[in-house]
Amino acid sequence: MPRKIIIDTDPGQDDAVAILLALASPEELDVLGIVAVAGNVGLHHNANNARKVVELSGRLEIPVYAGCSRPMRRQLVTAEHVHGDTGLNGPDLPDPTIALQAQHGVDYLVETLMAAEPGTITLCTLGPLTNIAMALVKEPRIAERVKELVIMGGAYFEVGNITPAAEFNIYVDPEAADIVLRSGMPITILPLDVTHMMQSTPERLAAFQALGNRTGQAVYDMLSFSEGFDLQKYGWAGAPLHDPTVIAYLLQPELFEGRRCNVTIETASELTLGMTVADYWHVTDKPHNATFLRSGNAEGFYALLTERLARLP
Ligand code: BDR
Ligand code: CA
Repeated sequence: MPRKIIIDTDPGQDDAVAILLALASPEELDVLGIVAVAGNVGLHHNANNARKVVELSGRLEIPVYAGCSRPMRRQLVTAEHVHGDTGLNGPDLPDPTIALQAQHGVDYLVETLMAAEPGTITLCTLGPLTNIAMALVKEPRIAERVKELVIMGGAYFEVGNITPAAEFNIYVDPEAADIVLRSGMPITILPLDVTHMMQSTPERLAAFQALGNRTGQAVYDMLSFSEGFDLQKYGWAGAPLHDPTVIAYLLQPELFEGRRCNVTIETASELTLGMTVADYWHVTDKPHNATFLRSGNAEGFYALLTERLARLP
């Protein structure tokens, strides 16, 4: 039986690749729905982009919802400087024809989790945690019904990418991340410590293009656009590839290593706002509320991604 997942996302080129990886893996993953959140760019663009990506994959039956248009307490911080003004600059994808679902994304999350057997739905978050936190505020009992929440967000040994201390997804809505980390849900975190190892070198990008399908070309165009900023910033052979690690973890968890520990979100300090303070060495007796992954196998990750993207149109 494929594992049931809901993807909460702010696409975003790397979000788009994550969605494609999930939709290319129906034997393992049953994507119940996709919920957009404000993050990389505004909600309108993110919801539009999610539908463009669903259409690219040919899986037109996947419902797309729009969730929250701003963080819980703060002004929205966006990342057009990385992703472009539409959030998905690079490929020339047609405007979506599938409609956005009328239901609010937070209500969809609550209703779906409350209606399903407990422990059967996995949430995958690729953007700020606003929708999940709002769902928890609305219906706290969802915490015990989620099978696992797999988050791309945070950083510890690699520290920040939007400030010196904080990773973008957590920084945008630190109060939401705090609510989620305190919720008691079974949580796994794919931080920058992992995603900085997954570098999209020219050879790896060329392998996507060489697939010869429209998806491979679109992924090549997306990542060629978004990596421009990071290549300059880090000076590495390839840019980090973040969000697809969440889906790769569900498909092949053995590609990743880490440990259970306490992870607490800084919500007060101006200097370190949104920092994910991971007690990786267990120097406190705070509860182990997350599995914090620290490393990943880049060769295995790109092999999986390339093989799966080949299955799409
Ligand atoms: C995260 O921030 C976003 O820009 C990416 O899509 C990813 O989810 C990386 O810090
Ligand atoms: Ca994202």
